[in-house]
Amino acid sequence: MADNLIDYQGKTVLITGAATGIGKATALAFARQGANIVIGDVDDRAKDTAADIKQLGAESLFVKTDVSDASAVENLVSEAVARFGKLDAAFNNAGLLPPTAPLAEQSAEDFDRIISVDLKGVFNCMKYEIQAMLNTGGGAIVNTASVAGVVADPGMAPYVAAKHGVVGLSRAAALDYATQGIRVNALAPGLVESNMTRRWLDDPEFVDQLMANSPVGRAAKPEEMAGMVLFLCSDAASFATGQVYLNDGGQTAH
Ligand SMILES: NC(=O)c1ccc[n+]([C@@H]2O[C@H](COP(=O)([O-])OP(=O)(O)OC[C@H]3O[C@@H](n4cnc5c(N)ncnc54)[C@H](O)[C@@H]3O)[C@@H](O)[C@H]2O)c1
Repeated sequence: MADNLIDYQGKTVLITGAATGIGKATALAFARQGANIVIGDVDDRAKDTAADIKQLGAESLFVKTDVSDASAVENLVSEAVARFGKLDAAFNNAGLLPPTAPLAEQSAEDFDRIISVDLKGVFNCMKYEIQAMLNTGGGAIVNTASVAGVVADPGMAPYVAAKHGVVGLSRAAALDYATQGIRVNALAPGLVESNMTRRWLDDPEFVDQLMANSPVGRAAKPEEMAGMVLFLCSDAASFATGQVYLNDGGQTAH
């Protein structure tokens, strides 16, 4: 085992959804540990993330990618391997939140959109990342699920279904590749301050409701998700696979 268990010098990490929020904070955390970062995102603000990575002295590549498009994801992974030679880790984190409404008021279009980005996007990413990792000696994958992948929240049926699916996909892939040097885990964040949750956190009544269920009484900063991802992708987590890691300020403890 390596002396330094969380060492990303010379390692390449692919991150989706790193234009903003949890993905951006995690990309910068990996970059601070010396990793090369490949970003797949639909949002051009990923260029700002790439510039911040450069400031930190690390290398990055941004490939504009819609994770729901399998051929775009195939291209993302092949560009990553062409530029850096291999893929050591991947953080499949891109996601969307549907409008809040009870199930019968959710549209079929929103359901399809959420499933195609939040669930099929993770399938697309793992499919091509795993092929690349098998060719280059293995790797580690973390998929962003949610507390909503473990328990249900009201008004979010398509998201809850997609995130439960991410947990299932992560477990299934972990079993398929357990003996081939590829570990797969899911991260389940609780409430995190980001563009996604801005519409809730800007509404004082909604915040009161959310905080009633929060033992720590606050939302997390995106940076507070990064450490668990760095751990799970590292040699320090060499026996950890097929699991869901809750990082939720105690939300699901009661
Ligand atoms: N914020 C929370 O409270 C919270 C809680 C649990 C889980 N999550 C999950 O964390 C992940 C990151 O969310 P965040 O809170 O940082 O929000 P965010 O909106 O800041 O980040 C989402 C990222 O995904 C990208 N993205 C969206 N659709 C995409 C697509 N089709 N292809 C490629 N990229 C796409 C966005 O451009 C953005 O960079 C999501 O999967 C989300 O479901 C968030």
